[in-house]
Amino acid sequence: MQNKIIVVGIGPGNPDYIVPKGLNAIRQAKFLVGGRRALSQFAVDGQETCPITADIQGVMDFIRVKLQQADVVAMVSGDPGYYSLLDALRREFPAEQIRVIPGISAMQYAFARLALPWHDATLASFHGRTPTAEEIAYEPGKILGLLTDSQYNSQTIPKILIKNGWPQEQPIHICSRLSYEDEEIITTTLGEAMNFAVKKQCILIVS
Ligand SMILES: C[S@@+](CC[C@H](N)C(=O)[O-])C[C@H]1O[C@@H](n2cnc3c(N)ncnc32)[C@H](O)[C@@H]1O
Repeated sequence: MQNKIIVVGIGPGNPDYIVPKGLNAIRQAKFLVGGRRALSQFAVDGQETCPITADIQGVMDFIRVKLQQADVVAMVSGDPGYYSLLDALRREFPAEQIRVIPGISAMQYAFARLALPWHDATLASFHGRTPTAEEIAYEPGKILGLLTDSQYNSQTIPKILIKNGWPQEQPIHICSRLSYEDEEIITTTLGEAMNFAVKKQCILIVS
């Protein structure tokens, strides 16, 4: 039987939010791939690990070699189906060789913290990309959920939204370090958001 790549979504960060099936897969792994923080949180003695760095091809090579011996478990933040290493894995390996154990996305968690249903929300990413004009176009009553990065952040994105027709007084929730001890949710307006320091690891909900 062919060995598998098991992609585990580890949730927004706090280990309390990983599903038991994912945690079991991680604990039983012989070969474990993940970001440095995830490896320090979850790796156990005796595992051979490979950190996910900018050298994605190096990670793919590690997985390909180790698959000859056993399954390889890859940990990704949040849910694997939402902007993760799964994209690159799907380009490199056949779907039949990949199993996914879903996780709680940071986006899902942000909406949960606001007790806000997300079935009508428009989700878009400013993480290493920019959303289409249509995605971020203003419409009264529209709810936006936005991933950020260091360039497109809690100060620069509100300015972009205002340029795209959103009113200055539109409420925005700046949700940073979700699920961690230092989690912070600031509710302000687009016009006032630049008065707050830039928040690292952050999701913006406009509603
Ligand atoms: C490449 S995306 C990964 C998304 C991930 N697959 C998920 O489902 O949550 C990284 C972005 O997710 C958001 N993010 C991830 N973890 C977060 C957290 N604990 N708190 C706030 N935002 C987070 C940030 O916008 C970050 O730049």
